[in-house]
Amino acid sequence: MYTAATHQQFVTLLRNSGIDINGADHSFFVRCMANAGVVYELFYSIYQRHNAAQHAFEALLKTIIAAYQNRPSTLLERDAQKQADWFLSEQIVGMSLYVDRFCGDLKALPSKLSYFEELGVNFLHLMPLFESPEKESDGGYAVSNFRKVDERFGTLEELMAVQQQMQAKGMYLMLDIVLNHTSHLHEWALKAKAGDPFYKDFFYTFADRTLPDQFDATMPEIFPESAPGNFTYNKELKAWVMTVFHQYQWDLNYSNPNVLVAMLDTIFFYANIGVDILRIDAPAFIWKQLGTTCQNLPQAHTLLRLIKHCVQMASPGMALLGEAIVAPEAIMQYFGEGTFTARECDVAYNATHMALQWDALATGDTRVMLQAQPILLQKPKGTTWLTYTRCHDDIGLGYDDAMIAAVGFNPYEHRKFLKNWYSGMYPGTYAKGALFSVNPKTQDARISGTLASLCGLESAILNQQEAAIQLAIQRMLVMQAHSMFLGGIPMLFYGDEVGYTNDYSYLHDAGKSYDNRWMHRPIIDWKKNDRRNEQGTIEQQLFTAMQRLITLRKQYKAFADYSNLIWLTPHNKHIAGFVRQHQSQTLFCFFNFSSYTTELTWYVFKELPHTSFTQVKDIANGTFHNIGPDHEHLVFPPYSWMIFEGISD
Ligand code: GLC
Repeated sequence: MYTAATHQQFVTLLRNSGIDINGADHSFFVRCMANAGVVYELFYSIYQRHNAAQHAFEALLKTIIAAYQNRPSTLLERDAQKQADWFLSEQIVGMSLYVDRFCGDLKALPSKLSYFEELGVNFLHLMPLFESPEKESDGGYAVSNFRKVDERFGTLEELMAVQQQMQAKGMYLMLDIVLNHTSHLHEWALKAKAGDPFYKDFFYTFADRTLPDQFDATMPEIFPESAPGNFTYNKELKAWVMTVFHQYQWDLNYSNPNVLVAMLDTIFFYANIGVDILRIDAPAFIWKQLGTTCQNLPQAHTLLRLIKHCVQMASPGMALLGEAIVAPEAIMQYFGEGTFTARECDVAYNATHMALQWDALATGDTRVMLQAQPILLQKPKGTTWLTYTRCHDDIGLGYDDAMIAAVGFNPYEHRKFLKNWYSGMYPGTYAKGALFSVNPKTQDARISGTLASLCGLESAILNQQEAAIQLAIQRMLVMQAHSMFLGGIPMLFYGDEVGYTNDYSYLHDAGKSYDNRWMHRPIIDWKKNDRRNEQGTIEQQLFTAMQRLITLRKQYKAFADYSNLIWLTPHNKHIAGFVRQHQSQTLFCFFNFSSYTTELTWYVFKELPHTSFTQVKDIANGTFHNIGPDHEHLVFPPYSWMIFEGISD
């Protein structure tokens, strides 16, 4: 919406900053004018009554202008070159990794870029690199300085050098902004502890337990075992501080507009390093309100929309990923709703589908997975998923009870089965994982473990059973293939491409032993990774299969996320089947999640409207098959996947 006052205020600020409105900076000017009214409305809908609102709004506009002026010319060029929907492309395949555990430090990373190229990965999520106290770090998600790279990893200059080398190779970079909290050792927290009222207001502090008790009554606990409750007493402040995650992570107070402006400035700092996708950590938590769960509140969405529109002005080439690991319907809201549809986060984790893949793998039954699809298919055009089987976090079984009940399972018993199955407690399970954050009150729990261990590789190797090893590899690959072709940006987790099993050494490190997510964050042993070049090794089998999956994805435009996925009528509960279509390309994708050899009839290729295929081509091996009569079968070995391109005469 156009607001004359904001227009005038902005134009004056732009002119005073030396912006060449009619010349070199014209497209920036156009973006500013197009977004200014919306930014004004969103900002004042939250901060109207705050006495610092006016001052903070001007600071926000100045932050946008400064961000544009500080944007390196190479990034300005890259912004101009990027298509608006570049992140939907089938050409992008990512990997998430800890720089120190992967290769030591940032200096060593450039020498590993060829490894990613060999695999086909061209998008890197470097896990948090900014300064974070070693023993109280939450894997880097407790940041004590948003602008200083932690010495353990190297320097900011080295990070920028990595970005430049990646850019030269056509690769993309993702970094985190930890928006919800800082370390209790961040400068702002230190100043608050020293009694500075300006910074005290950056956090939620309470003189006594009255309000914390009221908040706690409706707020769930995130880490009930290692960090119960949502508040921590601080002796220096003589107050209770809100700490939703760990005790050392202090929640930022976004009801104070100065916090928003300070964090927006940080966002632009990352944008100007050359971040292509900014991973907004834990956005569901950024707004707090008594009497609620303090998750997914409307104001959190308003703030994200505000950030999105500001980013669009100064660094339009940077997309936003919302890391909202919440219930399926709630995740969808991070893409924006109503007039803000597709104008909030560009990308979101498909956490629902990820967890449902694990559900399907344990039961060999894809029906619960299918129940979620009507919701997930509502993702707006122009936005995309980040698809994955494993990441640095636990697997939460956060999909709805109704989805489980709809196929006739008892939700409580079903979840209990899954937890037992993957934590290795269920008789006969192949999986070796662990329960994470068991809530003693509700028995809720999530699951830790590497892809390989959860798929049975660790137990198969221990028992020296070759057949079991092969089955585990098949399980890993059916999971990976499903994420690769489902639609969205596939994000591999480092180590999974060569089958790292759980690492239990975290138990001997006091800074990590309380958090079993470390069991699935491997330290790369390059001798192991080099075995990818030795014929017949587990590493070679997995690595080459992953290479093949990536190559196939990049060969077909239909794998780009043009909201072009149709689920096939389920003909066999063991097999998940969907179609990806783009222009004249039609790809039928099937994944057998069960341990059985099972089958589909040829009819499955006939039900799609407006198509009449006579043949199909198996894209993995290039063989053609005539589509047979309805009573004949196509056979799927245990844990296999097949993709067929429809061919008409
Ligand atoms: C996100 C991160 C997780 C971290 C949490 C708190 O969920 O992925 O690792 O513990 O945020 O920052």
